[in-house]
Amino acid sequence: MFHVNLLCGEEQGADAALHFNPRLDTSEVVFNTKEQGQWGREERGAGIPFRRGEPCEVLLIVTEEGYKAVVGDDEYHHFRHRMPLGRVRLVEVGGDVQLHSVKIF
Ligand code: GAL
Repeated sequence: MFHVNLLCGEEQGADAALHFNPRLDTSEVVFNTKEQGQWGREERGAGIPFRRGEPCEVLLIVTEEGYKAVVGDDEYHHFRHRMPLGRVRLVEVGGDVQLHSVKIF
């Protein structure tokens, strides 16, 4: 289980414009937002494009409509914007994952 959060501030409990959360134990990938400490409505991608212990490449592409999550060569899920893009300040990666590289374009 790991997560990538696009956060709207550096403070503890900052809003998250995107919470991308692969859960290998339950074979699901949850997408959500968090505003004022409250999780929003969860979205799930179809299937689980990750395997424990195997390297993977995840792209989070910002589009006009939302965040397109691409895993490996395949588009996995398109999460529609719920918050203004301009609020995002920070990318946070955490949980059970080893980072090899992070690129922000
Ligand atoms: C909760 C979980 C949080 C976050 C949230 C997303 O159940 O504790 O870490 O993943 O779901 O909706």
